[in-house]
Amino acid sequence: MKDKTYILGIETSCDETAASIIEVDKKTGFLKVLSNIISSQIEIHKKYGGVVPEVAAREHVLNILPVLNETFKKAKIKPENLSAIGVTSGPGLITSLISGFETAKTLSLIWKKPIIGINHIEGHIYANFIEIKEKIEFPSVILTVSGGHTILLKMSKNGSIKILGETRDDAAGEAYDKAAKMLGIGYPGGPIISKLANDYKKTLNISKKTKEILLPRPMLNSPDSDFSFSGLKTALLYELKKDKNWKKRIPAYCFAYQEAIIDILIAKTIKTAKVHKAKSIMLSGGVSANTELRSRLEKAVFDNFSKVKFFVPKISYTTDNAAMIAAATWFKLMRKKCPSKRLIKTNPSAALK
Ligand code: KG4
Ligand code: ZN
Repeated sequence: MKDKTYILGIETSCDETAASIIEVDKKTGFLKVLSNIISSQIEIHKKYGGVVPEVAAREHVLNILPVLNETFKKAKIKPENLSAIGVTSGPGLITSLISGFETAKTLSLIWKKPIIGINHIEGHIYANFIEIKEKIEFPSVILTVSGGHTILLKMSKNGSIKILGETRDDAAGEAYDKAAKMLGIGYPGGPIISKLANDYKKTLNISKKTKEILLPRPMLNSPDSDFSFSGLKTALLYELKKDKNWKKRIPAYCFAYQEAIIDILIAKTIKTAKVHKAKSIMLSGGVSANTELRSRLEKAVFDNFSKVKFFVPKISYTTDNAAMIAAATWFKLMRKKCPSKRLIKTNPSAALK
């Protein structure tokens, strides 16, 4: 048995055309990313203030083969060396999903390699397993925060995931994006708000901070593990309506808004981890690119637990990418969860199983 094997991952669920090849060390379980190519459509969708599905699908069709070519070139791996092809099968925009999915099916037929459908959220979770030397101990409580999801999950062992709570309305990333639209500062909102908030924070001293704009923290103290962000967005809108000079105070609003989101995410994660006696806490999804969230959750874990370990993917594996899909594929392959080709299909509203 060879010690190394290779997995190709393909991700086209929204507006990123992505492919990646990871190398798996079968002895140690170490997952090394050999190539992680992402063709982003942000510049195209910016002018519409959000993703236009029809435009996204057309771009995927144009980009998928050049992205795959670059992925193999960078990884210096031949198709015959692959042990499987993993592709996002849902949730996502159906017209976007199909372009990656049909490409993966075609390649699997030509190259005679197994194809494995991966749930996008599962992909985000498995981004935490990439290039880590430490073993993740279970049960793990996982906060997944993206443009479409805000979920708290429990992983009892590899492959066994249960949803503990989720947002009842907007996702955290959506809350960032909608606020940025309201403030007229561009798309996607997360990185823009985050930058303005961080710059503003540097200008603050502690005493002044408390006197700044106060926004609510919906469901902060609710006994469940659910979230709600639409009221926060409305509260911001009312604050802006009251303030004739809001355009001069945009960074202050970004700071107050981000603080509210992060306070809620951290409080709920820590509480849920205590209830479920977590041995580890993971953070994942596009919003986990947020440096303030990463560092504050890490500190909260350290302050609240003596033995619980905190995991967060490298920034490059937080927003949509295919390395996370390849990682999830490897774990699914190990669990021998490879349905026959006929049974694999896309599902735009796929639930986690
Ligand atoms: O996981 P992702 O790339 O796509 C989905 O699966 O939705 O997440 C995209 C979301 C967007 O809402 C974006 O605004 C947010 O992640 N995001 C951020 C940051 N970078 C991306 N949110 C907060 N801070 C960031 N630095
Ligand atoms: Zn995503």
